[in-house]
Amino acid sequence: MSLRGLRRRLFGTARPAPAPAPPGDPNTNDLYREIRRSFDESSRDEEHFPSTIDPRIQHVQSLLKFFGDLADKRVLDAGCGKGRFARVMRERHPRADIWGLDISEEMLKFIPAGIHRLAGSMTALPVGDSAFDAVYATESLEHAVEIERAVDELCRVLKPGGRLAIIDKNAEQWGRLETPPWEKWFRRGELERLLRHRCREVRSEYLSYWEDVRPDGLFVVWFAHK
Ligand SMILES: C[S@@+](CC[C@H](N)C(=O)[O-])C[C@H]1O[C@@H](n2cnc3c(N)ncnc32)[C@H](O)[C@@H]1O
Repeated sequence: MSLRGLRRRLFGTARPAPAPAPPGDPNTNDLYREIRRSFDESSRDEEHFPSTIDPRIQHVQSLLKFFGDLADKRVLDAGCGKGRFARVMRERHPRADIWGLDISEEMLKFIPAGIHRLAGSMTALPVGDSAFDAVYATESLEHAVEIERAVDELCRVLKPGGRLAIIDKNAEQWGRLETPPWEKWFRRGELERLLRHRCREVRSEYLSYWEDVRPDGLFVVWFAHK
């Protein structure tokens, strides 16, 4: 009896069950689909999800200072939303090659010409290793659900010698704002430890909006080198 015949006799003709959805895959994983749907809808809310940002805000300034000159460098904004940070990067560094990645294709529609768009999840970045000189994620890692996996991915796509910055909220301040059920905030040491798996010179600091206002502990910026 042929191998196929033997298999049919043992298992019948039913197709094998599909492989379980890979974690972090926005096309097959229910939670990621729900997150994408939610942000697709939020893209219409310009008040809470703005497409521009005042470049004097310290969140922007801290990234500009950390990355320095980005001429001829490739930059990834992971979870870029409508690209408010990427817009500033493009204005300040017209010779940089800037990419915005987001799980929500509706958010990506706001990305202006001159910035490349990538649809996908930061937990399974659709790019090869060592593709970027600079990577940042602002208020997006907190939505990534599989945080360790996302941090690994952000480091994976960074070139050796490249720089990574993450801005997110401090877990010690949890409860200060309304959050969707999947959102996570991070303790400084917790994210520093994850970053040290793949990066070096890891540090973090509290961040305020304005230069002359002391940080209140809600926002933290983490910096790392690969
Ligand atoms: C609060 S918004 C921040 C957007 C942008 N970084 C900013 O500061 O304006 C969070 C963004 O993360 C995106 N996001 C959520 N989960 C994601 C994932 N797993 N991978 C990539 N982007 C994701 C959302 O679609 C949304 O655009």
